[in-house]
Amino acid sequence: MIIFVKKTRIKTMEKENKYRELLELVKSYIEGEKCEMSVLANAAALLHEAMAPRYFWTGFYVVNGEELLLGPFQGPAACYRIRLGRGVCGTAWKENRTLVVPDVEEFPGHIACSSLSRSEIVVPLCDRQGIVKAVLDIDSRELAAFDDTDAQWLEQIAAAIAETLY
Ligand code: SME
Repeated sequence: MIIFVKKTRIKTMEKENKYRELLELVKSYIEGEKCEMSVLANAAALLHEAMAPRYFWTGFYVVNGEELLLGPFQGPAACYRIRLGRGVCGTAWKENRTLVVPDVEEFPGHIACSSLSRSEIVVPLCDRQGIVKAVLDIDSRELAAFDDTDAQWLEQIAAAIAETLY
């Protein structure tokens, strides 16, 4: 039991160190660039590469009227449009909050872009008025791949990207 607890702590520390470096890396890449497509493309690439193979799909959906539109991503092809309140992405947008889904099959209305995806995290990107402009969506092939540590760090990364863009 003690060994298990220690291993879990070490894993969390390793993950935190990785995210700490990743946050600085993302900031350094996006600094001064205002093109949404370019910034989101590099952010998706940096996140996906740093966290491979834990991240199976890493990308952004961008708010366009009453829908989210597929933005820059890394991973298998995905659906183009998600309506407000639909799926994990549309729900995170509607509720303006991070959603951690340990098992996508347990999430009512989950949109399965790939049958290989088992768990998911979605983090909103907001402008200075707190309006959601895009969401960061990350999928894993593993069940329960994301926890509070992922949520906290990904929220910081999403906020840094949003501050640059919006
Ligand atoms: N699963 C998401 C759809 C996007 S894909 O995972 C890339 C959802 O339920 O909103």
